[in-house]
Order: sequence, then C-alpha cells, then structure tokens
Amino acid sequence: MPAFELPLLITTPDDWAVQALAEPCALLNDHAHLEKKAAQNALELLHRWPEPCPPENWVVAMTAVAKDEVEHLALVVRLLSRRGGALTKSHRNDYAAALRGLIRGGGEPETIDRLMVSALIEARSCERFEILARVCTDEKLATVYGGLWASEKGHYLSFIDLARQVAARQGEEAAVESRWQQMLAAEADIIVAQRPGPRMHSWVG
Ligand SMILES: [Fe+2]
Ligand SMILES: [Fe+2]
Repeated sequence: MPAFELPLLITTPDDWAVQALAEPCALLNDHAHLEKKAAQNALELLHRWPEPCPPENWVVAMTAVAKDEVEHLALVVRLLSRRGGALTKSHRNDYAAALRGLIRGGGEPETIDRLMVSALIEARSCERFEILARVCTDEKLATVYGGLWASEKGHYLSFIDLARQVAARQGEEAAVESRWQQMLAAEADIIVAQRPGPRMHSWVG
C-alpha cells in the first residue's frame, strides 16, 4: 500500500483491529451497514449543491461515490454470507451520529459541514482499512480491506476538495481551513470515546 498521510489527529492502535477481528461476522455486518449509509449519504448530497449551480464535478463525484459504496455493500454482504453471517435489520453508529451533531444548520455552512463530516468518516475508514489489511490473517479479507483503503482514500479527497471549492466560491478559503481543523479536533475526541467492539468505528478496550 503506497504511503499516504491522512490528516487525522489520533492514530488508531493495531490492537483495535485485533479486537475487532475477533468477531469477523459482526465486523462485516457493521461494515455492510456503513457502506449502505455511505451510499445513501452520497445520493442525499447529490442534489444539495450550493446555489446557483453545483461546483464542477459535484454531480459526477457524488454519483461515483454512491456507485462505489453500493459495490462495497454487495461485496461485504457476500463476504458475510460466505462466512455464515447475515445482515441484521437494524444498526447504530454512535460515531457518525456524534459527527453529524457538529453540522451547523442552513445554507453554505451546512453544506460545508456535511462535506467535512463525510470526509472525516471516509478518512477514518481509510485509516482503519489500512490497519485491517495489515493485521487480518484471512487472506481474502485482507485483500478486500486493502482495496477498500484505496477507494475510501479517493472518497475522502473528493469530499474535502468539494468543501474547499464551495468555500472558495465565497472567498472563504481561510475560514474553511480553520473549520476543518475544528472538525478534526472534534473527530479525535469522538473516536476515542467510542465503545470497544467488532465495529469499524469502535475504539480499543
Ligand atoms: Fe465504501
Ligand atoms: Fe467511501
């Protein structure tokens, strides 16, 4: 996996993956739900561009992310069923819910915050896939995790690039960088507060 520096302020210890992989079907189930939610989020953002018209690439980027996430969902559900697991009906993700609590309501700030929260979730997932690809002893799963690392890295870059494009149209390049730093700091507090367990966005016990 080529070196790539993520902006995250807290690094996940490898022990997280050892603990999460102790229940691979539970981890795959959580993961499948996250892929479904990521697809829904991209489709939701598709028509939420700032007026009067979307930044260049907006529709193409959201469509591409949604398509990738649906493919990831299909892949993860297949892996889950081959291992004797099944997708549960309900799912909760306290990490994403806490991040969504940071979103300011209304207008451009809301759009920028939604893009940043999406970028944070992609960046953290990307970090976790790199660790899973290294630590997982199931060769098939490790290969899948490595492929997802590359895809989620691309999604993180798309979302943060769109947030910067939206801000640039308002002449708010400096404000958006300071908001991004605030968001990164909040994400660090939120991720370390998560319960341990076989979930993509848990913390270590
Ligand atoms: Fe994905
Ligand atoms: Fe993604």
